Amino acid sequence: MILVVGGAGYIGSHVVKELVEKEQVIVLDNLSTGHRNLVDDRAVFVQGDLGNKADLKSIFETYPIQAVMHFAANSLVGESVKNPMKYYQNNVAATLTLLETIVDYGVKHFIFSSTAATYGIPNVELITEDCPTNPINPYGRSKLMVEQMLADFAVAYGLNYVVLRYFNAAGAHESGEIGEDHNPETHLIPLILQHLLGQREKIAVFGTDYDTPDGTCIRDYIHVTDLAKAHILALEALLTGKKKTAVYNLGNGLGYSVKEVIETCEKVTGRKAVIEYTDRRPGDPARLVASSQKIEEELGWKAEYSLEQIIESAWRWHRQHS
Ligand code: UFG
Repeated sequence: MILVVGGAGYIGSHVVKELVEKEQVIVLDNLSTGHRNLVDDRAVFVQGDLGNKADLKSIFETYPIQAVMHFAANSLVGESVKNPMKYYQNNVAATLTLLETIVDYGVKHFIFSSTAATYGIPNVELITEDCPTNPINPYGRSKLMVEQMLADFAVAYGLNYVVLRYFNAAGAHESGEIGEDHNPETHLIPLILQHLLGQREKIAVFGTDYDTPDGTCIRDYIHVTDLAKAHILALEALLTGKKKTAVYNLGNGLGYSVKEVIETCEKVTGRKAVIEYTDRRPGDPARLVASSQKIEEELGWKAEYSLEQIIESAWRWHRQHS
């Protein structure tokens, strides 16, 4: 049985939907940002907290857990600068409690959601996993700390793990049943689509003076189902012993500027956006684009969705659930 911590969140729920096709799944989520109705009916659901030893104990004593996937975290860069305590508490201290329990119960396999924010401001076109990790905000640091704990736990306790560093997750499941639902929403694609649905007056573009061709930030958008498939491959690699420890980037390898994303949303929806150009948002690197060559070569993963397809799937979800 596979324990998915944070399986009621945006990315976790998409992974659960893929995982229930192959494995028995139990989801632990405190529903602080996740939604119960995003969890596939075929999974067992437990409402509880990964930082609470008693919640964890009752799961590990009741179910034969083979592997743990950990998605439960706070993930807003700006919030992490204002409230670092929350990030070190929820993302680091609570994860340590989870890891301690995993070691106590002899579970050997762990998959961890990490982030491009661990790299800080890289000065390369395509970021590879061996680029230096110099996070520029507490969110990125909180994720990097857990990566470092995992490396130490692998040596000391024989924990096998895969770290997946996501670039910009976006889009919604093909079924139309689950999608991105943050409150408050801060991510670019859902904000544009909410504006195009008439739920927001305009879309702000944060900064037009970056060192990029059109002056706006460039990101690598990756469909959430592509991310989900990478987790299935990572789990197989751990369970079969193909991998003991690994760190992989997950992106498309293509960079799109904020302006290009808005234009693609306009094209997909056939609607015109009202754009407000504003100051930079603190903490935004100019360009973050992944090389995902390592996971392609080692696990046979390949991103399948283009930016247009990502936006099409998100548009279907937003129209149905607005
Ligand atoms: N942006 C705007 N206007 C908006 C919202 C965003 O111009 O209203 C811009 C941002 O400045 C950025 C780009 O759109 O350049 C994408 O912003 P998002 O907030 O959608 O995503 P981020 O790249 O900031 O964040 C994502 C993940 C984080 C992770 C980070 C790694 O959501 O969890 O990538 O850098 F930390």
